[in-house]
Amino acid sequence: MTKFITFEGPEGAGKSTQIQLLTDYLTERGFAVHTTREPGGTSIGDQIRAVLHDVHNTEMDAVAEILLYSASRAQLVAQVIKPKLAEGTMVLCDRYADSTFAYQGYGRGLDMAMLKQITAFATRSLVPDLTIYLDLPVEEGIRRKEIANQAGEGELNRMDQQEIDFYRRVRNGYLTLAAAEPRRWLIVDARQSIADIQREIRTRLTAWGITPANG
Ligand code: TMP
Repeated sequence: MTKFITFEGPEGAGKSTQIQLLTDYLTERGFAVHTTREPGGTSIGDQIRAVLHDVHNTEMDAVAEILLYSASRAQLVAQVIKPKLAEGTMVLCDRYADSTFAYQGYGRGLDMAMLKQITAFATRSLVPDLTIYLDLPVEEGIRRKEIANQAGEGELNRMDQQEIDFYRRVRNGYLTLAAAEPRRWLIVDARQSIADIQREIRTRLTAWGITPANG
């Protein structure tokens, strides 16, 4: 069974930690797993990421922004995600198209129908089997990000410099997206401990017959 699983949520919600723990769990159960991230995940994608996240690029147009995220995604789908899934490797991706719907759609207010069209083109209509949303109140996400920055951890990027209402729209957007497709989404309260979050994720995988006993 080969599955494509994406992780969404604000910075500071613990996506990378949970991806690592889930990778270990699946690997122990004999699955081949590839982890990747957006924007990036390929050489071309990483170059696009540098442009997108450069704090000096304050003049970036919102349409240019969505096209750059989509270009990075198109490259990742074609070069990595589709071939990995075709060879039977599970793919875990840190952010995917739902970030575009949440940040550029709900956050920036771009036309959602247009974003869906561009996204379907960029992804060749590849939709995740499961999207795990690590949900945090906006203030808590900002607090965690500040603590990480003070500790010299994590990157401070252009998308971290929006006003607070932008992040409120993004969070409400994610919750709206999840409510519209409850079978694809798992919403997890990211204020829980790392272990409890991981337990909820693993419980969801039992629907696919992946259980703690399979190891
Ligand atoms: P991260 O790598 O630290 O998660 O940062 C990625 C940032 O880029 C994050 O603020 C969300 C943003 N983003 C978008 O706005 N649209 C997108 O399509 C993607 C993939 C990310």
